[in-house]
Amino acid sequence: MNFFKKFLPAPRNSRETPQPDEQVALADFFDLLMRHSEAPPNEIETEVDPDTFARLQARVERTWSRLGEEDAHWSVITDNKFRKENIDDTLTDFFDMGEGDVKRLLAALQRAGAQLSRVRSVMDFGCGVGRLSVILSRHFDKVIGVDISASHLREANSCFRSLGIENIQTSRLTSVSEIETLQKCDLVYSIIVLQHNPPPVMRELLSRLCSRVERGGFLYVQIPTYKVGYSYSSDSDLLENTDSMEMHILPQKVVFDVIEKAGLSIREVVEDGAAWNLDFRSQAFLAQRK
Ligand SMILES: C[S@@+](CC[C@H](N)C(=O)[O-])C[C@H]1O[C@@H](n2cnc3c(N)ncnc32)[C@H](O)[C@@H]1O
Repeated sequence: MNFFKKFLPAPRNSRETPQPDEQVALADFFDLLMRHSEAPPNEIETEVDPDTFARLQARVERTWSRLGEEDAHWSVITDNKFRKENIDDTLTDFFDMGEGDVKRLLAALQRAGAQLSRVRSVMDFGCGVGRLSVILSRHFDKVIGVDISASHLREANSCFRSLGIENIQTSRLTSVSEIETLQKCDLVYSIIVLQHNPPPVMRELLSRLCSRVERGGFLYVQIPTYKVGYSYSSDSDLLENTDSMEMHILPQKVVFDVIEKAGLSIREVVEDGAAWNLDFRSQAFLAQRK
């Protein structure tokens, strides 16, 4: 935001006419905001056969286990200051970023009319090294941190122990279908996680996460819904035997369909910029099970 602040006019009485240079800056700013409004749809395969699904899922698991072994904190926020050689000096900044994320979550819940005192159990899906679970544990009675990567969970558990936090449990997931075995929660929260799964896996994750929301409870999930020039086909995807961090999208229409089919009502959709790339449109969806 600091970068853009210089383009924005200072706050002033709305009856004043903007100066010409302010008008140009504002027009540029709105062009940027609306940059994807005339975009064509992305061509995306969102359903695959079970064997293809298993191969895609195995690749996600392999990639994240490796990333967690090599440089766990950096894999969560890919800023060099969080590389393993720097993390002892920057751990406070790392958790401060989590504070900002949870602040946005709490504000969204309040706008949706949630009574926060009634939200007791929270699932932090794709908890990584516990950056968000630690903050969530201060606001809610019980946090369940779930992740596909054993190496991230190891780091998370050691962090919770060193901070003396006792209201976080963790659970390792080996397949998307195992989500059904997790307990239902008043809030299912997942940011910067689903985007690292190919669209067919992302779609299934979303559907299963909806099933873990208690009656009256909430789902808050971040998903990139558009990327300039992106398309997805599992055939060509599986030709590349990559194990580097993947970034995918799920079209907004599919997100709405999955959430509605699972019996939840959408309460809010906000831009969140979590993909850190202007080619992407990333959004946070807040939904509630009635
Ligand atoms: C970028 S990190 C984000 C961690 C945490 N949400 C945060 O914001 O600090 C992504 C995490 O999601 C996990 N993850 C990715 N795909 C997953 C899946 N299909 N099931 C469970 N965890 C997954 C990875 O192992 C990794 O720990």
